[in-house]
Amino acid sequence: MKPILLSGMQPTGRLHIGNYLGALKNFVELQNSGKYRCYFFLADLHALTEPQEPEELRANILNLTADYLAAGINIKQSVIYQQSQIPAHSELTWVLNTITPMGELQRMTQFKDKSARQEANINEGLFNYPVLMAADIILYDAAFVPVGDDQLQHLELTRTLVRKFNAKFGETFLEPRPLLTSIPRVMSLSDPLRKMSKSEPAGCLFLDDSPAEIESKVKRAVTDSGSEIKFDEEKKPAIANLLRIYSSLSGEPIPKLEKQFSGETYSYFKSKLAELTTNHFADFREKKSKLVKKPNELHKALRLGSGQAAKVAEKKIAEVKQKLGIALE
Ligand code: AMP
Ligand code: TRP
Repeated sequence: MKPILLSGMQPTGRLHIGNYLGALKNFVELQNSGKYRCYFFLADLHALTEPQEPEELRANILNLTADYLAAGINIKQSVIYQQSQIPAHSELTWVLNTITPMGELQRMTQFKDKSARQEANINEGLFNYPVLMAADIILYDAAFVPVGDDQLQHLELTRTLVRKFNAKFGETFLEPRPLLTSIPRVMSLSDPLRKMSKSEPAGCLFLDDSPAEIESKVKRAVTDSGSEIKFDEEKKPAIANLLRIYSSLSGEPIPKLEKQFSGETYSYFKSKLAELTTNHFADFREKKSKLVKKPNELHKALRLGSGQAAKVAEKKIAEVKQKLGIALE
């Protein structure tokens, strides 16, 4: 049997190029490698840890489904589903809560960052977020989890919980391993020392930005002092970020790009990057705009996937209940 590969994203708005180059692009390539049984879900329960408007969330769920499909995830090859439709995710979260030390959760960088950002809403869900994420993964015996590097700490916790549960109740879960892309942390266009993040839209290039928006954003992107197009993480973090994006989209290695752009201005390099980005996502934009006009098809795809995922998850949660001693037969 092929090893299981699983990942998810929160349906909380438009995807940016960080989500794409750090995760989604990899989902598609890994699916197409044919080496894995793939599960890609929408982490709608995780989305509830930040304030959401119901109508907007509903729209975002379909929107992310369209993003997945337009990027190349295929329902014939991969299982696509909504986390909330499978009760076993919530059930296993409760069980894992009972073996998760609070201290481990208090150390989580994402919890600290998000708490600082939403001081008026530091809810238990935000605190338990990594436990639900562990449940998402281990319910399916996932061996590999493609994510951006901001999720590595959560995967480490998942591995700890697997060891702890297995040691106490016998071999039940598999320890998952993260899979990173060559660019697991895309930095903001407006501040190369900060991660590109939905919480700061000004620094994001969104996948469905129009060609005019792409051009204007890339043009306005912060650059470094000096004028050379050279990869120097320390002295030229902004150009290093743009070079990494360029390389990842074009498939050309960075030294080759340095040669190609030697003697050229920042402004010329940026115009080429804008052109490359526009062309790279042309097919995506077209497919997505068609898909969002067919909400029924998107619903259908999710229903199909949820049915397939539920079978796997239900079996595992039944095994867990047996091992815990709460299943009487
Ligand atoms: P989220 O939108 O938080 O659900 O993130 C979806 C995926 O995108 C996760 O695997 C993140 O690790 C990844 N990701 C988010 N921001 C970035 C970034 N700036 N660079 C690389 N990967 C990212
Ligand atoms: N926490 C992830 C993010 O913010 C989304 C996510 C939820 C996830 N559950 C997961 C990713 C399980 C991989 C595996 O991006």
